[in-house]
Amino acid sequence: MKGSIIIKNASQLVTCSGFKAKQGKAMSDLCTIDDGAVVIEDGVITAVGKTGEVLARFDVTGFETIDATGKAVLPGFIDSHTHFVFAGYRAEEFSWRLSGESYMEIMNRGGGIFNTVRATREASREELVKLCRKRLDSMLSFGVTTVEGKSGYGLDEKTEIKQLEVMEELDNIHPVDIVRTFLGAHAVPDNFKGREDEFIDYMTDNVMPQVAHKNLAEFCDVFCEKGVFSLEQSKRLLLKAKELGFKLKIHADEISPLGGAELAAELGAVSADHLLHASDKGISEMAKNGVVATLLPGTAFSLKEPYARGRYIIDQDCAVSLATDLNPGSCFSESIPLISVLATLYMDITIEEAVTALTINGAAALDRADRIGSIDVGKTGDAIVLEFPSYKYIPYHIGVSCVEKVIKNGNLVFDKGNKINR
Ligand code: NIG
Ligand code: FE
Repeated sequence: MKGSIIIKNASQLVTCSGFKAKQGKAMSDLCTIDDGAVVIEDGVITAVGKTGEVLARFDVTGFETIDATGKAVLPGFIDSHTHFVFAGYRAEEFSWRLSGESYMEIMNRGGGIFNTVRATREASREELVKLCRKRLDSMLSFGVTTVEGKSGYGLDEKTEIKQLEVMEELDNIHPVDIVRTFLGAHAVPDNFKGREDEFIDYMTDNVMPQVAHKNLAEFCDVFCEKGVFSLEQSKRLLLKAKELGFKLKIHADEISPLGGAELAAELGAVSADHLLHASDKGISEMAKNGVVATLLPGTAFSLKEPYARGRYIIDQDCAVSLATDLNPGSCFSESIPLISVLATLYMDITIEEAVTALTINGAAALDRADRIGSIDVGKTGDAIVLEFPSYKYIPYHIGVSCVEKVIKNGNLVFDKGNKINR
């Protein structure tokens, strides 16, 4: 259902105007309008400007009206990297990590991702839908209107497809739009230990063609990491994915500097994600090839790893997007304000750049900057109203959401005062 609505008198209308990724310096311009208004008709933005001008030009009788006096209005946030479809939790691993065990050590002794794989294989479709629906409600309350979700907790045909189908179903029943990514090569399951190449063959020859045929994912991703999938194995998988029509993403240089950033540039990936240990050369090649750098400060924070070099990456003229990486292991958080405060305090990213990274560049990381991520005429009618007059409150109110209202496709779908309203 597409709705029609007018938001008027916004003390600050942060449009993030643009139809493609913003690289480097362009990330600083949020294109704000004081005393702004947005008109959304049948789910599409049809007017943006000063309230007086918009009201003079448009007849909005009968439209639902939001008076945003004293409030900032922004595009809906785009969480461009998550693993939100999973069963089971790993709270005990969090305490093991506090005692000094590393993420990879836990994984190498059969915990970590494998723990979640076991629980996700066992969970029924209905259970997963129920669990994930709640997670989407929470994301929506943080102002997220589009989320990317990955498979990768099946590592077998049945469960990988189940995860993707769960997202397909959720996309139909929940206001948050879901962009699906196939991450079959997320870890090497027990039955393929020591036969990583055969596992890649299994994924490319058995699972991936089905995912493509059923149109279950738009992107293909791989965990390119020391002790998981090598650069060569990742490249082989991604080349096959490209052939089958998938757009590409890479979990690149997260825990060790393997050259994932360079590979993303070479293959024309839409984004390379994590990049904690990305090399100067990899970053400059990403900038040249227009690969979006998706940074996930919540993961560095949670794993007590050094943060990706956000400032440097933007200064090298890359487009940076920020995302939560929501997953049960390395970062169990869907908190957008947490991500924004970590990025500004510890990656030296300005607040303006962080807002760009969570909106138009998040959209670019999903190859949707032409449709979402900004308040521009012709785009999908997704917007958020903050409780405060400026976007600066997003990181400033540390870890707490300032989102008062969420509008999706022209419908008011979240209202803090009234909880979920749909
Ligand atoms: O992005 N690194 C690989 N994948 C996820 C974590 C998945 C998990 O621990 O369950 C990440 O950090
Ligand atoms: Fe991830």
